[in-house]
Amino acid sequence: MKIAVLPGDGIGPEIVSQAVKVMDVLSREGMKIELEYGDIGGAGYDAAGDPYPAITSRLAKEADAVLLGAVGGYRYDSLPRPMRPEQGLLRIRKELNLFANLRPAMLYPELAGSSSLRPEVVSGLDIMILRELTGDIYFGQPKGLRKNDDGEREGYDTMLYSESEIARIAHVAFKTAMKRKKRLCSVDKANVLETSVLWREVVTAIARDYPEVELSHMYVDNAAMQLVRNPKQFDVIVTGNMFGDILSDEASMLTGSIGMLPSASLDSQGKGLFEPIHGSAPDIAGQNVANPLATILSVAMMMRHTFDDEATAQRIEDAVRKALFEGFRTPDIHQEGMKRVGTKEMGDAVAARL
Ligand code: IPM
Ligand code: MG
Repeated sequence: MKIAVLPGDGIGPEIVSQAVKVMDVLSREGMKIELEYGDIGGAGYDAAGDPYPAITSRLAKEADAVLLGAVGGYRYDSLPRPMRPEQGLLRIRKELNLFANLRPAMLYPELAGSSSLRPEVVSGLDIMILRELTGDIYFGQPKGLRKNDDGEREGYDTMLYSESEIARIAHVAFKTAMKRKKRLCSVDKANVLETSVLWREVVTAIARDYPEVELSHMYVDNAAMQLVRNPKQFDVIVTGNMFGDILSDEASMLTGSIGMLPSASLDSQGKGLFEPIHGSAPDIAGQNVANPLATILSVAMMMRHTFDDEATAQRIEDAVRKALFEGFRTPDIHQEGMKRVGTKEMGDAVAARL
């Protein structure tokens, strides 16, 4: 298994080190894991003057999978857009054609008390958000800044989806639903946006190939509300790039902490990039307080989706569950009576239980 490791910025390096600890355990058992490190985001800009350096791109293309920490930091906020750390992330997603972004929002029973919602509303929560990741207003052309006829500046972006882009994410969504509770909710804004009218039409047409899946449609504003009103009504949610960005952050809070949620971004062959859904948290970087579990759980997703190794994926997830069950908590999920630990200690705890 050739894995490109791109720690990135902020808390990225410290959380990725914990995920590497977990992979080291697997290596010692005989699994053939080869790690190669590269720079991305602000780290790429510092090393090579580019948030997605050519050498990193080569590394990522040659690898079977990519493990990424996070990108972004105050120091880079005033750079021109093409040099900003976020561009590194957007470019690697686009270049590797990682159109299917799986963001599971699952509540570990031990963390029910850490959610901002009442335990009975979230207990047993298990949602899979499928976010389209290489299209939509993120990438649609044209975009830019210009002067209008009155000489005033205006900014514009283009929300755009082709039928084939919608179709391929829809197929992944229906297949995902088939492996779960067979309920799929497609989220759009078809009451206002043409892009969404097409989205709804294509998803509805594809539903005929999956008669066992119960398909529903929901406007994004309502979906945002339903997620905090009654989140357990959802099984699989499929949506576009921007709505998925927003809804997945919202869903993460249901689970107690955004520090718990892993993600997989896959191409049509199952090659993927695996990263926590949270950002680089520069305010707590280097303090050994960040929660490494989302990154560790991203390794589990890598085993499952790229290497087709369900058993190892479950072992990693069980090790995380065990550490939580035994009371290990980083500050973001800490509660009275639990063992408050740092980033490294949480990594050690999971590695030991593996
Ligand atoms: C995410 C992030 C990124 C996105 C940013 C950092 C570009 O918020 O992965 O959800 O908007 O996709
Ligand atoms: Mg986001």
